Amino acid sequence: TTNDPYVSAIPKIELHIHIEGIISADLKWKFSQRNAQPITNPRTNQPFSSLEELRDSHDTLKPRAGNRMDNSEETLSFFEAYYGGFEALKTTRDYYDLAMEYYERAAGMNVRYAEIFFDPQGHTRVGTSWETMMEGFRAAQGKAERELDVKSAWIMCFLRDESLESATQHYNAALKYRDMIIGIGLDSNEVGRPPSLFDGVFARARNDGFRLTAHCDVGKHYPLDHIHQVALGIAGIGADRIDHGLNAAGDASLTTLIKSKELGMTICPWSYIRHQPLDEVFGRIRALFDAGIMISIGSDDPAFMEDTWVLENLLVVKKYCGFTNVEVQKLAENAINMCWASGGAKERMM
Ligand code: ADE
Ligand code: ZN
Repeated sequence: TTNDPYVSAIPKIELHIHIEGIISADLKWKFSQRNAQPITNPRTNQPFSSLEELRDSHDTLKPRAGNRMDNSEETLSFFEAYYGGFEALKTTRDYYDLAMEYYERAAGMNVRYAEIFFDPQGHTRVGTSWETMMEGFRAAQGKAERELDVKSAWIMCFLRDESLESATQHYNAALKYRDMIIGIGLDSNEVGRPPSLFDGVFARARNDGFRLTAHCDVGKHYPLDHIHQVALGIAGIGADRIDHGLNAAGDASLTTLIKSKELGMTICPWSYIRHQPLDEVFGRIRALFDAGIMISIGSDDPAFMEDTWVLENLLVVKKYCGFTNVEVQKLAENAINMCWASGGAKERMM
């Protein structure tokens, strides 16, 4: 599927990638061995005893596995597998290696710039300090810019299933790293957790000059009202982007609102096809594109899909939306317009 020289060669900007979403079972195992830090299987409360056992349980919501999702007694849910990786990371070197994994992959796909999500609350709650995390990221970020020609900035996400108090504490800690952090996002389990819960801290972040975005997940569990809050409510006037938000394609007034506010949406097709019908997913992506809404393509959590990075995500929309090369190029250009790098930096990027 990667034999598409045109799409491979396009200079790319990636705006929806979780650094923790690249932690494959193998990478998790590498950190865990190096640190002599066992990883707990949340289903048994015992440590995983082999890489094979870890791979099996990590082999979660894979789209091509069809009904694997229903077989959930054996496989971990996405969030169990995802957060189960955090405890294996202990040292600055681990965070450096993790980020370098991404930057090297990115360079190979012609990614020139990325705004990368990270989830600090997930790390501090298993005992890692901000400093350990950020100094590893900082060293990798510098090396990638100097040696791989991949520039980047970080988006700190609040875990929406944690409290406002915890979000506020982490926001205060982030201020020390504002030279690295360009924006504030909202992710994790959305059920019963509307963006408005975090309005106070988002308003502060906006005042302090951060850009804002929030996840609105895809499927019937996720109300349109959350998208409405992100588009119009957060920090009084709404966020700067929407992450996912594909449910909006089924609602004329919401698509009109998103278009009139010129809000960009980051779309990650491989994340949706693991639990939504193909024709609905690609019909909706095509509808947003045809309505003139600014969408860009990201990879979300490549290690938890089919090892699908931004290139594979572009290829799957090209195929199933029937996009021409010119239309795929337009998706890449949308990412330039949606990104938060300064104007001069943008021009030098592409
Ligand atoms: N954090 C990492 N990946 C996520 C996803 N796909 N949805 C919500 N939160 C996430
Ligand atoms: Zn995401």
